Amino acid sequence: MGNHLIAPSILAADFGNLKADLEMVNSSEADWFHIDVMDGVFVPNISFGMPVLKEISKHTKKPLDVHLMIVKPQRYIKTFADLGSNILTVHYEACNHLHRTIQEIKNNGMKAGVAINPHTNVDLLSEIISDIDLVCLMSVNPGFGGQSFIEATYKKVSRLKQIITNANSTCKIEIDGGVSDKNAKKLLETGADVLVAGNHVFKSDNPTETIAKLKNL
Ligand code: DX5
Ligand code: ZN
Repeated sequence: MGNHLIAPSILAADFGNLKADLEMVNSSEADWFHIDVMDGVFVPNISFGMPVLKEISKHTKKPLDVHLMIVKPQRYIKTFADLGSNILTVHYEACNHLHRTIQEIKNNGMKAGVAINPHTNVDLLSEIISDIDLVCLMSVNPGFGGQSFIEATYKKVSRLKQIITNANSTCKIEIDGGVSDKNAKKLLETGADVLVAGNHVFKSDNPTETIAKLKNL
């Protein structure tokens, strides 16, 4: 397939031995680190926050793709920039003034991403598609790793691809949730550019090889 990117999701790593997993990703064929920040309000789970991200960024040698599953993410844009985030993704459903939030992310030197939940129509992004670098299409309901992939995602990928092409935009389509060797190829064929994978990578017998397989599809 084309030049797609692989972003292992650290949420599925071994938090007791995080450095080893970060180094595994550093020396693998992965492109980005996907970092899930959850606040227990926007989603029914709490993951980790700033002090942990600060330590993570000391050991990572690839771009940090930070996915904020938090309410009012505009409060922390500078904080996440200072912590070393390269791509900062906020949820469409969490932003009253999404356009302003996106500009602030870019003004803080990061690439701007917008994530949408499974129930959110991709057409809602048409007004801002030219302003953003990434759309994170949630293929599970956000909050937990290890859930099963929602099949209706393919339809959203192809519609979003159309919107991006029509706008002459270079925005990337990222798929997040339940990605595995069972759906990765079809997702790429449908128009996905970035595959996030948590459990499929970290719970496999050989994570480095699992990453390589996803990369070389
Ligand atoms: C879910 C997170 C995902 C999650 C993916 O709310 O946004 O990034 O870590 O994990 P898997 O690949 O295990 O579904
Ligand atoms: Zn995520």
